[in-house]
Amino acid sequence: MFNLLGVRFLLSLQLAGLAIQTDAKDAGHRKPIILRESGGFTIGGKVIQSPLNPNMTLSCDHGYVEYFTPWTPRKTSLVMWHSSSTQTFQNRWDGGEGFKDMFLRADYPVYLWEGPRVGRANWACNATFYVPDYRDQANFVAWNFGPAFKQWWPGVQFPTESEEAWQQATSSRYVEYDSEASVNLETDAAAVAADSGKLGTDIVYLTNSAAGLRAQLTAVKSNTTNIKAIVCYESFGFVFPDDAGVKRGAGANPFGPILVPLEDFKKLARIPAIQFVWGDHRDESFIFLNQSRQAAALINKYGGNAEVVLLAKDKGLKGSTHIAFADMDNRKVGELLHEFLRENELDDYE
Ligand SMILES: *[C@@H]1O[C@H](CO)[C@@H](O)[C@H](O)[C@H]1NC(C)=O
Ligand SMILES: *[C@@H]1O[C@H](CO)[C@@H](O)[C@H](O)[C@H]1NC(C)=O
Ligand SMILES: *[C@@H]1O[C@H](CO)[C@@H](O)[C@H](O)[C@H]1NC(C)=O
Ligand SMILES: *[C@@H]1O[C@H](CO)[C@@H](O)[C@H](O)[C@H]1NC(C)=O
Repeated sequence: MFNLLGVRFLLSLQLAGLAIQTDAKDAGHRKPIILRESGGFTIGGKVIQSPLNPNMTLSCDHGYVEYFTPWTPRKTSLVMWHSSSTQTFQNRWDGGEGFKDMFLRADYPVYLWEGPRVGRANWACNATFYVPDYRDQANFVAWNFGPAFKQWWPGVQFPTESEEAWQQATSSRYVEYDSEASVNLETDAAAVAADSGKLGTDIVYLTNSAAGLRAQLTAVKSNTTNIKAIVCYESFGFVFPDDAGVKRGAGANPFGPILVPLEDFKKLARIPAIQFVWGDHRDESFIFLNQSRQAAALINKYGGNAEVVLLAKDKGLKGSTHIAFADMDNRKVGELLHEFLRENELDDYE
């Protein structure tokens, strides 16, 4: 009798798991996460010699990957590329379920990527730096929680009453190293990773902020067809062909535009699907939204499939922040991603 009950319990869990759990408010009713394996590795990078003794070397400037493989995986790997912290993909603002667990539950292999010098890949070939610069107040505005510090947008998808949630959001950051040199360093390693097969052969990049620029440049540097899609949540930075009349970004060029030869740019047009997704309260004159429309038009001009999606205007999701996949309505944002993956036939099982 006890065994029978046990079998029934398991069966009902499996049945519940047939549907993607988008509506389960009660964690107890969600499909469990069952992993075949998890782990991590470094990839890319170089070995440099000591100027004092060539027999002494340093292996450095590699990227770092942590991976999670579901028991019955789909073919598509979701490579999550944060801008300021892996944490944004791990939990919702209030500590609830993030995209990592949401998509593991839906049987997608998940890879958390950190480029050279960032996060757990901080074993650098160059001297690195961290200069404290009192940026909590600037984070608040940059992440579009409101127009000024602690002036929340009405209906913003953040638990505004929770000081703890705000504290978690603003402190779980890494140094980003925003410069074109650093973008090149990170994308050299990312392209090696993409082409290695170690992230699978059907890669979908999910990126936030400055990681969007990095994923676009990675696709330009990759020599395989492993990259099947790029979904950029609020990309700060775009890649353009050098003949389109777009000017390279000024100075160290932290957020683009980055210009590449037209033949290389056309690699973006060969990626089956690209989405530039924007949260709420972004006017068309916002420089990066404007650039996303220009970049999508150019990708499509060369035969590609890129679209700009405004979560509020086009999809009816109000109050999305700069990091929509960590927002309180991230299940709805996740459902839109499921739809995108289905439409582009990226939801098949192995
Ligand atoms: C480096 O190694 C080589 C071969 O073992 C040795 O002959 C040489 O003396 C070493 N150089 C230094 C600076 O230690
Ligand atoms: C590393 O240091 C060299 C020498 O100072 C510099 O030219 C290069 O731009 C640095 N690389 C990055 C990615 O910062
Ligand atoms: C792609 O091919 C070019 C030309 O052979 C090469 O320079 C580059 O390193 C390759 N990229 C990767 C990621 O291997
Ligand atoms: C977008 O940028 C282009 C080129 O800089 C400019 O001509 C256009 O007016 C901008 N569009 C909006 C809506 O600001």
